[in-house]
Amino acid sequence: MSKETFAMRLKASMDLQGKKQVDLVRAASEQGVKLGKSHISQYVSGKTLPRPDILHFLAEALQVDEKWLRGDNPSDAPDSSVSDAGIMDAGQNRNMKNNTAGGDRKMRTFQKSSKLDNVLYDVRGPVVDEAARMEEAGTRILKLNIGNPAPFGFQTPDEVIYDMRRQLTECEGYSHSQGLFSARKAIMQYAQLKNLPNVSVEDIYTGNGVSELINICMSALLDDGDEILIPSPDYPLWTACATLAGGKAVHYICDEQAEWYPDIDDIKRKITDRTKAIVIINPNNPTGALYPKEVLEQIIDVAREHQLIIFSDEIYDRLVMDDEEHISIASLAPDLFCVTFSGLSKSHMIAGFRIGWMILSGNQNIARDYIEGLRMLSNMRLCSNVPAQSIVQTALGGHQSVRDYIGPGGRIREQRDYIYKALTDIPGISAVKPKAAFYIFPKMDIKKFNITNDEQFALDLLRDKKILLIHGGGFNWQHPDHFRVVYLPRIEVLKESVKKISDFFSYYHQA
Ligand SMILES: Cc1ncc(COP(=O)(O)O)c(C=O)c1O
Repeated sequence: MSKETFAMRLKASMDLQGKKQVDLVRAASEQGVKLGKSHISQYVSGKTLPRPDILHFLAEALQVDEKWLRGDNPSDAPDSSVSDAGIMDAGQNRNMKNNTAGGDRKMRTFQKSSKLDNVLYDVRGPVVDEAARMEEAGTRILKLNIGNPAPFGFQTPDEVIYDMRRQLTECEGYSHSQGLFSARKAIMQYAQLKNLPNVSVEDIYTGNGVSELINICMSALLDDGDEILIPSPDYPLWTACATLAGGKAVHYICDEQAEWYPDIDDIKRKITDRTKAIVIINPNNPTGALYPKEVLEQIIDVAREHQLIIFSDEIYDRLVMDDEEHISIASLAPDLFCVTFSGLSKSHMIAGFRIGWMILSGNQNIARDYIEGLRMLSNMRLCSNVPAQSIVQTALGGHQSVRDYIGPGGRIREQRDYIYKALTDIPGISAVKPKAAFYIFPKMDIKKFNITNDEQFALDLLRDKKILLIHGGGFNWQHPDHFRVVYLPRIEVLKESVKKISDFFSYYHQA
C-alpha cells in the first residue's frame, strides 16, 4: 500500500461521500474503533498508513472496496474520478527508482520508514506544533503541557552543579556501557533502600534518560506481533516504543472510579498466549495515582500466573505527597523478573542532563537470553552521558531538596491542592486528587460540552485562550473526555490559567 496513492484514494472517497475527518472520527468512536483526529489527518496527508483493522473500518465507513482502498487492484476503482492512473507510487521512491515520466527526470523524495506508521507521540504532536506556530507569530502561550521542571523555577541543587563542574574533565571519554561504577553503586544502594531483591552493580544500566532505556527494553524483547500490556492512560513513549519494536501494545484500563488503579479484571481479560510482559507506571503520569501494596500484589499474582516480565516505570518515586509511601513492585516479587526504571529528571528535577537507569531484579535466570539482548543494545550505543552519570551519587545521597517541595507548605503540594480545587470547581469538570508526580487528569462532561474529539478541544482551547495542554487521546486514552494539566507553574500562573479555562468551559460547545 503506497502512502501517496492511499491518501489520494482516501480523500477522493471522503469527497464522494461528503465526509470530513471529524465524521470518520465520530463514526469510529461510535463503533468502539480507536481512531483519533491525529491518525486520520496523518492518513489524509500521506504521512502514515492505517493498520488493517482501521483500513477495514475506513472502507466500510466510506462504502468502498477494502482491497481497492488498500491499493491491491487499482483498476477496480468504484469511480473513475478516484482512479490511480498517473499517480506516482511512493513505494517506487522507497526502492530508490527515479521517476522518468515524460522523459523528465523527477526529483527523488524520501519517506519515513513504514516502521513509524502506527507510532504516535502527541505529547509533542500537532497541538504542540500549532502552539509553536502561534508563538512564532508573537502570541504568548500558557504552557501546562510538559513535565519539565526547570522552566518553572525548580532548580538543580547547587551541590550537583558544583560536583559536575569538578568532575567534568574526567568525563571526556566513554564510560563502561552500563555506566560509571560510582553511579551504579549509588543506584544499587538506592535499590537496597527500596528493598529490590538481589541487585548488584552488574544489574544496573544507565541511560540518556529513562526514555532511551524504554526503547532498548522494548527493542530487545518484542518480536513482530508479541504483545505487551500497557496502561491506558499511559506515558505514550511506552506504546510508541513497543509499536516501533514490532510489538502490539495492548492497553489495560486504569479505573478512574478506583483512584485510577489498574483494573485487574481487564488485565486478565487481555492476556493471550503472545503476552510477554506488563508495564506499570507508578507513580503515574498522567493521573498522579500511587498504587498501594494490595494493588501491586494483585498485579504480581497475574504476572506470576501468566509468567510475565514486569516493567515498572518509577521515575516519580520521590514525588509522593500526603505522607504516603512509594513501594517498588519489584520488592514484592523476588520470584519474578522485574525491570525498574528511575532517574534524575523528575524526582530530582534535572531533566536536561539526561540521566536515568534501569535495575534488573528478581529471577534473572529465566531472562538470561533477554539480558544478553539488553547488553548488546547497551553496548551498541556505547554509553550514556558521562557528565550526568558523574553526579548520580551526589543527587541520590544526602539532603533531598525535593522533600521541601512535597511536604506541607511545599510548592508542589500547594500547587496540587490549588489546581485540584480550582479545576473541580468548574461546572462539568471532575477529577481524582493526585497523590504523586505533578499531573492531574481531569474529566470533562462530554455531553454538556458536546465534545466528540478531544484533540479538537485542545486546539480550540489553545486558539481561544492561548493555553496549551494535552488531550487524553495523547495518552492512549480511548474516550474524548479527559485532558492532562501539568501543575508545575507557580500558583499565580495556575490561577491565570484556570480563570481562562473556566471561562472557556462557560461557553464551549464543540461544533
Ligand atoms: C512516566 C515517565 N517515564 C519516563 C519519562 C522520561 O523520562 P527521562 O527524562 O528520564 O527520559 C517520563 C517523562 O515525562 C515519564 O513521565
